[in-house]
Amino acid sequence: MSSQLFTPFPLAGLTLANRIVISPMCQYSAEDGSATDWHLLHLGHLAVSGAGLLMIEATAVEAAGRISAADLGLYSDANEAALGRVLRACRRYGKAAIGIQLAHAGRKGSARVPWEGGGSLTAAEGAWPTFAPSALPHGDGWQIPVALDRAGMTRIIAAHVAAARRARVLGIDLVELHSAHGYLLHEFLSPLANRRTDDYGGSRENRMRFPLEVAAAVREAWPRDRPLGARLSATDWVDGGFSPDEAVAYAAALKSLGFDYVCVSSGGFAGGRPPNEPGYNLPFAQRIRSATGVATRVVGLIVEPNQAETIIASGQADLVALARGFLDDPHWGWHAAEALGLPPDPPPQYDRAVAPAWPGAALRPRAST
Ligand SMILES: Cc1cc2nc3c(=O)[nH]c(=O)nc-3n(C[C@H](O)[C@H](O)[C@H](O)COP(=O)(O)O)c2cc1C
Repeated sequence: MSSQLFTPFPLAGLTLANRIVISPMCQYSAEDGSATDWHLLHLGHLAVSGAGLLMIEATAVEAAGRISAADLGLYSDANEAALGRVLRACRRYGKAAIGIQLAHAGRKGSARVPWEGGGSLTAAEGAWPTFAPSALPHGDGWQIPVALDRAGMTRIIAAHVAAARRARVLGIDLVELHSAHGYLLHEFLSPLANRRTDDYGGSRENRMRFPLEVAAAVREAWPRDRPLGARLSATDWVDGGFSPDEAVAYAAALKSLGFDYVCVSSGGFAGGRPPNEPGYNLPFAQRIRSATGVATRVVGLIVEPNQAETIIASGQADLVALARGFLDDPHWGWHAAEALGLPPDPPPQYDRAVAPAWPGAALRPRAST
């Protein structure tokens, strides 16, 4: 049986071994932005999962751009050294290419970690000032952010460039700009958060201006032979928010700047809930891919191997990203291969857990298709 999901995919000078991507997932387990043993366990395990690309979680480009005090960052020498330790282990044992998502949380920063309830930190809990296009809070009870002035915007562009340079030194294969999910760059894109009256607000062109300034500066700093992409929210799922039409224009502008791919997600603003339907972002991804020709990754309730196979084989997207599916089954890549009639590719230490070495493989419930 031939599988399109398991065909290689070239992006800039990198060829991914297959179309399966582990979506970036915040772990809220860093210390002062530095990766910990948790990252060694979490990323180390996922590096041997059978995915072609492992994305490192949203990684703050400055301390103020962290969602929580436990977010991963890449803004100090200590952050760089700690991540280097994790990367060495992942590369020593894993085959997955490794990408990093560079992020600034904007007005959703200075928050509690989800398992402590989320929401803005209080001053007693160590709140720090947050930044956004306009002085509008994310929602009730959230801190009112500082509306960025030109100096602040210049600082944040420089922080993205500095983080990309650190990623280059670390030998990371791919960089992705986080411009989705209601964080800073998405806040500029969306009329829900951007009420500016200067050149950075109002028309679609103006709202795209700052994210594209960041994108252009990172493009300049990041080597051409290593893929550079961006994640976007194709809709806010809120009336009057960023729209699928605007997402097409934004993806086209990124492509013109030399971006190699976009990852199509959605939502992130208070009140905007994506539907709980399999592949709910597929119509947006398909539209962006056919309108712009940019390589397109899609994410959102992709769970079954045959679902992923159909997405790739039918040309709805070039890559599929799974988040919760890989937390649930960190060997999803092996099980997908098996379900699609291909031999799984575990590290040699685990060879004895696949057929024909393990008769139990035929006895357990097969990965569902
Ligand atoms: C634990 C967790 C952490 C997440 N952190 C990030 C993140 O750092 N960056 C991001 O763009 N999306 C993040 N997301 C969203 C996922 O990448 C993904 O887009 C979303 O979960 C939908 O995919 P799924 O249905 O395969 O889980 C996170 C999701 C989860 C479950």
